[in-house]
Amino acid sequence: MRTPGLIDPHVHMREPGGEHKEDWESGTRAALAGGVTMVLAMPNTKPSVTDSDTLATALSAARTKAVCDYAQFLGAGSGNLTKAATLAPFTAGLKMYLDQTFGTLKLNNMEDWLNHFRNWPSSSPLCVHAEGPSLATAILLAELTNRPVHLCHISLRSEILLIKAAKERGIPVTCEVTPHHLFLSQDDVSTIGPGRSEVRPMLASRADVQALWDNLEYIDCFATDHAPHTLQEKDGENPPPGFPGLESALPLYLTAAAEGRLTIDDIITRSVTNPRRIFHLPEQPDTFVEIDPQARWTFSAANTYTRCGWSPFEGYTMTGRVISVTLRGKVVYQDGKITTKSGSGQNIRPALNGIQ
Ligand code: NCD
Ligand code: ZN
Ligand code: ZN
Ligand code: ZN
Repeated sequence: MRTPGLIDPHVHMREPGGEHKEDWESGTRAALAGGVTMVLAMPNTKPSVTDSDTLATALSAARTKAVCDYAQFLGAGSGNLTKAATLAPFTAGLKMYLDQTFGTLKLNNMEDWLNHFRNWPSSSPLCVHAEGPSLATAILLAELTNRPVHLCHISLRSEILLIKAAKERGIPVTCEVTPHHLFLSQDDVSTIGPGRSEVRPMLASRADVQALWDNLEYIDCFATDHAPHTLQEKDGENPPPGFPGLESALPLYLTAAAEGRLTIDDIITRSVTNPRRIFHLPEQPDTFVEIDPQARWTFSAANTYTRCGWSPFEGYTMTGRVISVTLRGKVVYQDGKITTKSGSGQNIRPALNGIQ
C-alpha cells in the first residue's frame, strides 16, 4: 500500500545547543524511518530561535544535515514583539509558549500574548503551547484579533470540548494531538517509569484519552511533538519532559487502523492534508511511503535513528510497517536503511540571506 509522505508539524530537532539529544541529521533520519517527509521544527533550542541570527544558525545546520524537507519556527519572546513579523516569510510560523515546558520561551506577560497575536501576520501560522485556562485565553485572542491560531498537543477532555465549542462558533482555531496522548494514559506511568513518563502536557486520565477518540472529527492534525532527551537525562535527577515519537507514530496509527479504530483516510487527513493547508506547505512531487499494513513486528528503540536511545512504546507489538520512502523521485529510505545523503532535504520556505 502507498500513502503520501507524512508531514509532522511539531518536532524538536534540538540543534543548535542540544545535539547530544538529537541534531538535524539524526532527527530527520528518524523522520524518514517513520514515513515523515516534512518536519516543522520548534524554536526552544539553545539559544532559542527568536531573531535572524539564531534562525540563520538553525537553518544553516538544517541545510547541511537534513534528509527530509523542513521549515523552522520562530519563538515569540518579550524582545521581538515587533521585529518577529519581518522574519515571518522565512519561518514555519510563530510559536508562543503560554505555559512552562522545556526551554526558556515561556511568555509571562499576557500583554505580550495579545501583541504577538496582533503583530504576527495572519497569513503566517501561529502556534501555541497552551494548557487548560491558557488554552481558553488563546482561543479568546484568536477571536479578538480575528486571526487563525493552531493549538499544539491538546490532551484533555475539557480542552477538546472547548475547541469543539469554539469551532462551532466559527472561531478560527485548529488543533493537533500527539500519539502519546492518544495511546498512553496515566495508567502507563508505572510501566514507563516516573522520569521517563515526564511530558508536557502530562499523560492524562483514561477518560481524557477516550474523549479525544470520541471527538476525532475536531482534531485537525496528528503531530508527534518528537521531543528527544537522553536516557541518562530521563532517568536522572531532574528529568526533562518529552518523548521521542517520529519512528513510532505511523506504526501506532496503522495498528489502530488494523483494529478498526482509525481509517487510512483518517490518518492521511490529519498527517498530510490538514497540516499542508493549516501551515501553507507546498506539495512534495513524486513523494510517497510504501507500507505493509499487515506486517506484525515489535517496536524497539535499539532499531531507531533518534539519538535519544529510548521510547515509551518499547516492546509494543505493531501491525503495519514502513517499507520504503521516496522523496521527490528518489528512494531515501528502504528496508531500515537511509539511502540519501545529508543535506538532501529542502527548506520549503524562501531563503533567508541566501541560506536555503
Ligand atoms: C518539549 C521539549 O522537550 O522540547 N517537551 C514536552 O514535554 N513536550 C517541549 C514542548 O513541546 O512543550
Ligand atoms: Zn509544548
Ligand atoms: Zn504544534
Ligand atoms: Zn513540542
